[in-house]
Amino acid sequence: MTPKHVAIIMDGNGRWGIKQKKTRNFGHKEGVKVLEKIISEAIKKRIQYLTLYTFSTENWKRPKKEINFLFTLLSNYIDKELNKLDNKKVKLKIFGNINKFPNFLKNKLKYAENLTKKNNNIQVNVALNYGSREELTSAVKKLNKAKLPINEKNIKKNLYTKDIPDPEILIRTGNRNRLSNFLLWQLSYTEIYFIKKLWPDFNEKDFRNILTEFSSVRRNFGGIK
Ligand code: IPE
Ligand code: IPE
Ligand code: MG
Repeated sequence: MTPKHVAIIMDGNGRWGIKQKKTRNFGHKEGVKVLEKIISEAIKKRIQYLTLYTFSTENWKRPKKEINFLFTLLSNYIDKELNKLDNKKVKLKIFGNINKFPNFLKNKLKYAENLTKKNNNIQVNVALNYGSREELTSAVKKLNKAKLPINEKNIKKNLYTKDIPDPEILIRTGNRNRLSNFLLWQLSYTEIYFIKKLWPDFNEKDFRNILTEFSSVRRNFGGIK
């Protein structure tokens, strides 16, 4: 079966840059190039939601120079690719609190979301300043404030993923077997694929192989089949 929702932790850019005897930022730049391939492949496979971990709530711990580079990269990406994405009928959604982002970037991101909101080929969720613990804490706080019962249904309604199904597949590139505060609630029953390749080396074929592997997985959700 084709998954409806695939989530990806795009890890390993920095190490890739260093491996090329260049900078970590060089690796980030190369990593961006993989996006188009994977989005196009996801559209071909009729995947409805793709959620990409792009900047975590913990990534602020990185040197300013690297953070600023990432912001510039994202801004340039929107300038260059937004129309192409729109033509492919990609709907862009931001998952995370971008209030702390520089104004020029915040405005661009909001513009991109607004421009593409009626598109229906695929929804690409860009997790920016996203952290699962913060997402869950703020959901519970909202319920508390509204004096609503704390139950699974109400918590789900207050997550970024409120309107969409949980991912069937999580891919993490970069040879690290951890979740790094990504979608902890939503990944409860997700099939996880930890890939050794660094993100800039990941390609359509790797993506297709994972989809093929997934198609023969029997999921039980705690029951017996
Ligand atoms: C992931 O690559 C991209 C971001 C976190 C923005 P890293 O920058 O974490 O690369 P490594 O893991 O240090 O190689
Ligand atoms: C996860 O990668 C965040 C993104 C890919 C955006 P990290 O590189 O930040 O994760 P850790 O620090 O290795 O756990
Ligand atoms: Mg990393």
